[in-house]
Amino acid sequence: MVTLLENPLRVGLRQERIPEPQILVIFGASGDLTQRKLVPALYQMKLQRRLPSEMTIVGVARREWSHDYFREQMREGIEEFSDGIGSEELWQDFAQGLYYCPGDIDKPESYQKLKAFLAELDGQRGTRGNRVFYLSVSPNFFPEALRQLGTAGMLDDPLKTRLVIEKPFGRDLNSAQALNRVVQQVCQEKQVYRIDHYLGKETVQNLLVFRFANAIFEPIWNRQFVDHVQITVAETVGVEDRAGYYESSGALRDMMQNHLMQTFCLTAMEPPNSLDADSIRTEKMKVLQATHLADVHNLELSAVRGQYSAGWMKGKPVPGYREEPGVNPNSTTPTYVAMKLLIDNWRWQGVPFYMRTGKRLPKKVSEISIHFREVPFLIFQSAAQQASPNVLTMRIQPNEGISLRFEAKMPGTELRTRSVDMDFSYGSSFGMATSDAYDRLLIDCMLGDQTLFTRADEVEEAWRVVTPALNAWEANTDPTSVPQYEAGTWEPEEAEFLINQDGRRWRRL
Ligand code: BG6
Repeated sequence: MVTLLENPLRVGLRQERIPEPQILVIFGASGDLTQRKLVPALYQMKLQRRLPSEMTIVGVARREWSHDYFREQMREGIEEFSDGIGSEELWQDFAQGLYYCPGDIDKPESYQKLKAFLAELDGQRGTRGNRVFYLSVSPNFFPEALRQLGTAGMLDDPLKTRLVIEKPFGRDLNSAQALNRVVQQVCQEKQVYRIDHYLGKETVQNLLVFRFANAIFEPIWNRQFVDHVQITVAETVGVEDRAGYYESSGALRDMMQNHLMQTFCLTAMEPPNSLDADSIRTEKMKVLQATHLADVHNLELSAVRGQYSAGWMKGKPVPGYREEPGVNPNSTTPTYVAMKLLIDNWRWQGVPFYMRTGKRLPKKVSEISIHFREVPFLIFQSAAQQASPNVLTMRIQPNEGISLRFEAKMPGTELRTRSVDMDFSYGSSFGMATSDAYDRLLIDCMLGDQTLFTRADEVEEAWRVVTPALNAWEANTDPTSVPQYEAGTWEPEEAEFLINQDGRRWRRL
């Protein structure tokens, strides 16, 4: 018999614990991610007293910054991208643990210098040799950084050193396999934390609780009751100043292969035996193994790419993708991707999963919607009495929550029906905003919990699923072959067709 305290699903996914004293080393520390996300997330944890007092952060990048300049940059980031520093005293305490060590990814002497510096910090700050190395550099540098860390012997102790690798993990199946081989040469899988920040989002994690801590949903979570599923991650931003990265990545690599596929896995997987990392990751892996694009022989029926053209956002004109700074005017990089996936297993046979993601769409919204089957026989005859199928929507962002659409009788003497929503919202139910995904993931990594990180085989399998689309699109470099959609509008027509061909429609959000 499991008691309340022993059952983590009943008391939250996990009890709050404070990590061991340690040094977090961020490679690529002069970049956006460190200033906008990582350090603000760490500071939030400091404010919530979830960090050990010895916590030390070392930024590594090529620029010749001083410790003080690094501290100033991080302070600006905290002030601009989170709730600010709160008390000056707390900031001073945090800042004392912030250091900067200039270095080149490809120079062995940089690693020797870093190694000596970390040993010195162990003595000063009591961090006991515990290290997390966070690779927040451009993905082409991952193999080099890994080899250098390995050669310098900095990953030798599997109990004291961990490695965080940002996405995208590889550019395709072959490069992901090659990268996994490098990882395996320099450390053990239990040291590796492949990060996908969608897994740190409250609502994505809530999928597990919603599905497996409630008895009433799981019995209808299958092909008998579900007609189809839609997963949408829509963004209003364009490529911003990231053309250098995005041109060689695009929506398939940047979003679909990771954020959407992970969300898909948690929606479709079987109940795991327990909440431990491998049980969950094994179930995700099983779903991926059974998944394929609906029709690989007629790719346009199961995968569509698109690119935003000039248009209007919030009343202002915005350029098309090919006119953005740093973008090739004949670029074929997709800023939009839609896919229809099928899963060959008992639970989901024949139930399509429609997935879409894009930049410069009319709204920033991410959600999963489960569309249930129509009622088997409709006793209501007139048009005013037509019943729409039930839809269960998990809102990942914004306004995080869940709603169930069902039919209700409109008040009055006539029998008329209308769809209404039963709604749960995190904000009003818990009276607090959901936290940033990075704080959750950083703390989990520092605690040595890999549950919300992707395993080597999972990443490879997710690449396998998207490979037919990737290969076909890369082979076709004709710019006119990429469907265009006007910035500020929903998908290109081809993506409408992808779902309309099955007599279904994308949800209008
Ligand atoms: C990142 C992508 O992983 O996720 C970005 O590289 C994208 O292109 C971002 O904008 C979206 O994340 P979120 O949390 O804002 O939905």
